[in-house]
Amino acid sequence: MRQGGALAAFLDLAPAEESFRDAVLSGLTRRAKSIPCRFLYDERGSALFEEICELPEYYLTRTEIAILADCAGEIGALAGRHAQLIEFGSGASRKVRLLLDALEDPAAYVAIDISREPLRRAAEAVAADFPKVPVVAVCADYLQPLRLPPLPARGEGRRLGFFPGSTIGNFTPAAAVDFLAGCRRVIERGGAFLVGVDLKKAPALLHAAYNDRAGVTAQFNLNLLERINRELDADFDLDRFAHDASYNEAAGRIEIFIRSRADQIVTVAGRAIRFAEGERIHTEDSCKYTVAEFQRLAARSGFRPLRHWIDPAALFSVHLLGVA
Ligand code: TRP
Repeated sequence: MRQGGALAAFLDLAPAEESFRDAVLSGLTRRAKSIPCRFLYDERGSALFEEICELPEYYLTRTEIAILADCAGEIGALAGRHAQLIEFGSGASRKVRLLLDALEDPAAYVAIDISREPLRRAAEAVAADFPKVPVVAVCADYLQPLRLPPLPARGEGRRLGFFPGSTIGNFTPAAAVDFLAGCRRVIERGGAFLVGVDLKKAPALLHAAYNDRAGVTAQFNLNLLERINRELDADFDLDRFAHDASYNEAAGRIEIFIRSRADQIVTVAGRAIRFAEGERIHTEDSCKYTVAEFQRLAARSGFRPLRHWIDPAALFSVHLLGVA
């Protein structure tokens, strides 16, 4: 086990448990059932997602890491000295190490994530490995308007936002524009935003990435029902639900659901919820963009596309956006 380093600060802005109960009940009692995707990432969900990132079919993580390894030097030079690096949804804080290696005397690394203990462990590991960099962990739902705590002074340094993993694809395009505009305000004038975006490609490759042979993605998706059982006193029978992910080519997105295999009634926090056979709970979409499509989206949120990088097989893109 890696020894953790001291954090410069740990700020807990996480929403109360109450909001999970409310979100699940309101999501399961509407006509088209759905649960917001941020609830997929409890302790177990975060661990399963890390496993997804290692799967042979899930090309996203390893391709993005290869691109970042190639372009980190260029990004370091563009960002300059004393940058404050701010990561939205930092997870295991793995990719950010490539940037921390390339930046000159970064003034701070701010890791923002919804999953408290994995965040603490990941941030402490970064602090241990980069002892000169002040590490600030913020446990928060980054979808909510966010005010950063006071950060170590950066002098003339810029802010560099980091949003890898194609998580931007998990928003609808309209919500992505709003989210990017919110990030632009946090990053401030003179700063830049580095965003990983999965590219449109052959549907069979996309389908495989969300339907791996080992079934880890299915476990990750269905963990949401186990979490509801654990935390909200529910009685979902996992054998009577299935993972359901497919590529909607017209919409350019992977659509992810949990499908009921039978007519059944489930009790959740004292409420009876009815499922018809084949009825689905929407858990996430993953939109895919061409380079030009994503640049247009970024421009609508007030960013100026500065540069982008793609891998030789054109699977994935990394965009650097400037705040004018
Ligand atoms: N941001 C990831 C993506 O869109 C999240 C993800 C991967 C995911 N596999 C999933 C979400 C399965 C729900 C279900 O690729």
